[in-house]
Amino acid sequence: MTTPTTNSVGTPIASDAHSQSVGADGAIALTDHYLVEKLAHFNRERVPERVVHAKGGGAYGRFVTTNDVSAYTRAALFQPGVETEMLARFSTVAGEQGSPDTWRDPRGFALKFYTTEGNYDLVGNNTPVFFIKDGIKFPDFIHSQKRLPGSHLRDNDMQWDFWTLSPESAHQVTWLMGDRGLPKSWRHMDGFGSHTYQWISADGERFWVKYHFKTDQGNAFLPQAEADELAGSDADHHIRDLYSAIEEGDFPSWTLSVQVMPYADAATYRFNPFDLTKVWPHGDYPLIEVGRMTLDRNPENYFAEIEQAAFSPAHFVPGIAASPDKMLQARIFSYADAHRYRIGVNHAELPVNAARATEVHSYDKEGSMRHGFRPASAPVYAPNSFGGPAADAAAAGDDRGWQSDGELIRAAATLHPEDDDFGQAGTLVREVLTDPERERLVANIVGHVGKTRVPEIRARAIQYWKSVDAGLGARVEAGLTPIDEPRTSLASEPVRTPAVF
Ligand code: HEM
Repeated sequence: MTTPTTNSVGTPIASDAHSQSVGADGAIALTDHYLVEKLAHFNRERVPERVVHAKGGGAYGRFVTTNDVSAYTRAALFQPGVETEMLARFSTVAGEQGSPDTWRDPRGFALKFYTTEGNYDLVGNNTPVFFIKDGIKFPDFIHSQKRLPGSHLRDNDMQWDFWTLSPESAHQVTWLMGDRGLPKSWRHMDGFGSHTYQWISADGERFWVKYHFKTDQGNAFLPQAEADELAGSDADHHIRDLYSAIEEGDFPSWTLSVQVMPYADAATYRFNPFDLTKVWPHGDYPLIEVGRMTLDRNPENYFAEIEQAAFSPAHFVPGIAASPDKMLQARIFSYADAHRYRIGVNHAELPVNAARATEVHSYDKEGSMRHGFRPASAPVYAPNSFGGPAADAAAAGDDRGWQSDGELIRAAATLHPEDDDFGQAGTLVREVLTDPERERLVANIVGHVGKTRVPEIRARAIQYWKSVDAGLGARVEAGLTPIDEPRTSLASEPVRTPAVF
């Protein structure tokens, strides 16, 4: 027998095809509460999309620690042999929810580990660096990559204006314009924690670390023409690829390694090790293998488990902590605030976000959509005399700090000899990329800068690339054709050519 449809509180309803009306062609009745409920619920099916990284997909899996890194961190999930359930979400940055997966962009690489010490989130990208190094610039940066307020079009002049006026972006833009800006699939890209984080060992020793997830599928990219074609023919190409691979039992995996810097090295390192626009050369701090993550289970419900997934760089576990990286500190505020707006104050109660391998004993109570509660006998305030949970510095690992002094100022660190903007981008171009990779980099930059129409922005872009590498800049300049219709304003003039992604 077919199960009867019910309304939202379980009462059987008579029809999903006919509203109640006065005669077959008459006015519908407000007493048809089921009709009203159905339409009203439908109107509320969306939550605001993520302000960035709106388009994405994800899967569950597990992380197994295969090496002994206990000398560097006491975190339970990184002890030898420990297996931890996890969730990964991959995304593009600037596009909206329906935008093509194959637009040129960094890719988000957000991980949630359901550890026995609470949930640990590592919210990184497929690049080891970022465009800016101070969170106060983040809204401006994102505005420049999204849409013009008037025409609602994306705009190359706006993008290059921001990048060239923010030269610290050079390293990340070099990555973005190269092959890493168009990964073949999410399975074929590396992931990075990007920031420098702090690890603390069981005996309290502190280290600075950077995370590298190397794809076991091998890095592969899409040629620009193929990405452009896919953007039209299969906008969900990367969602489909991950989902299908997992359904077919072809489980993607990544090997995690870390670079570890002794705590005291930071002060005298050749550049600021907390600068998110820099990598640490492997010659200085080699990779140390930690373990492997494998994705082996698709979500059953995209909205409940991926759209409502809330990853936060503030979610640390004992043995892992923040660092002086200013971007990381801004993010520690920003994500939970976004989740409260996007999903609600009790987003951590949703199954995808809730702790799975340990219990929650917090003193939070009530708020919109609360459904979990503790026994009536449990006190709701601390301190108390009734045996309620008590904060424990030893359990928490009361060790999340670092030495810092100085006046309250607004400035970027320039204390280290190599704290410049263009050096590492130039090294990437000259010493890391192969000849064919450099060829494609030049072609991609020429294609992208070629869509700018403000002469002064175009000139700055050429100078930007000359500052990265004189030869590269000259080739970019030579590849550009003159601007046929110069533009002076972002607002009033038509944008006749599509932006390049
Ligand atoms: C998503 C803010 C820098 C990676 C988000 C969201 C916000 C945000 C508000 C949406 C969260 C949500 O609604 O669930 C910021 C701010 C930054 C910053 C203020 C700079 C201060 C970065 C950096 C990275 C990054 C440097 C990578 C290294 C991501 C990823 C997501 C995301 C992967 C998507 C998470 C998911 O899959 O749900 N960011 N972000 N962000 N951000 Fe950032």
